Amino acid sequence: MQVVIVNSEQQVAKYGAQFCAQFINQKINATLGLATGSTPLSLYQELINKSSEGSLSFAAVTSFNLDEYIGITEDHPQSYRFFMNQKLFNHIDINKNNTYIPIGMGDPHASAHEYENRLKELGGIDLQILGIGSNGHIGFNEPSSSLASRTRVKTLTAQTIADNSRFFSADEFQPSLAITMGIATIMEAKQVLLLATGESKATAVRDFIEGPLSASCPASALQMHPNTIVIVDEKAAKLLEHKAYYQQVKFETEQLENSLF
Ligand code: GLP
Repeated sequence: MQVVIVNSEQQVAKYGAQFCAQFINQKINATLGLATGSTPLSLYQELINKSSEGSLSFAAVTSFNLDEYIGITEDHPQSYRFFMNQKLFNHIDINKNNTYIPIGMGDPHASAHEYENRLKELGGIDLQILGIGSNGHIGFNEPSSSLASRTRVKTLTAQTIADNSRFFSADEFQPSLAITMGIATIMEAKQVLLLATGESKATAVRDFIEGPLSASCPASALQMHPNTIVIVDEKAAKLLEHKAYYQQVKFETEQLENSLF
C-alpha cells in the first residue's frame, strides 16, 4: 500500500485526478469502479475540467459504481444514479449505456447477482476509486462484512445512516439497506485508489492502514491488495504512526523516477 499525504483536500483531488487521467490515457477503454459521497466530488470536478480542456476522454470508458440505496428510484435526488449523472456523467463524453450502477428497486438480491455477473462478463475493474466511511467501510461493506463477500444486499449501520442523514431532509424516507459490491469484488480490481479527507476520517484511516487486517475495519482488506494507492490530506493522516516513513517513501520514489538509472 502506498500512502501519499498532501496538504489539503484540493491537493487530494488534484493528485488523484492526475493519477486517474494518466491511467485512462494509457488504457483508453479502462473499466473504472466509481464511488459516491462527498470525498470524490472535487476529484470528479478535476476530471470534468480535464475532459473540457480536451486532455482526457471517457468515450471508450466503462464504469461500475460501488453501490446503490434500496427503495429509492433512479431519478430520486439522493439515488447514486442521480448523483453520478449530476456530478460526473452529464459533464463528460462517457456513453451512459456503459455506466453501471446497481438497481435499487425490484428484487435487490436478483439485482445484486446480475450486477456481479455483468462485471465479471465485462472483465472486471481496472481502476477502483474508493472513499472510506468513518467506521472503515468501503462501498457499503459495513464492519463485520465478510472479507470474501461479493455484490449483495447490506444493512446499513446506525453510524452510516447518521453520517448520510445530512443528504436527506428530516421528513424524507432514508434507506437503511443498500446493494454494494463485496469486499472480494473490490479486491479483484487491478488498481485501487482510495481518497480520504478531513479529521472525521482520521481514526478509520489509521485503523485500515496500520491496524490489524480485520472484518471490523473492512478497508483493512486493502492491506492484501498488491496495487493500492491511498491519498489523504493532513487532517485525515493525523493519527498515522508512520507518517514520516510514508513521506520518506514518496520522496525516495520521486527521486528514483527522476534519476537517470
Ligand atoms: C458512503 C458510500 C461510500 C463512501 C462513504 C464516505 O456511504 N457508500 O462509498 O466512501 O460513505 O462518504 P463521504 O465521502 O461522504 O464521507
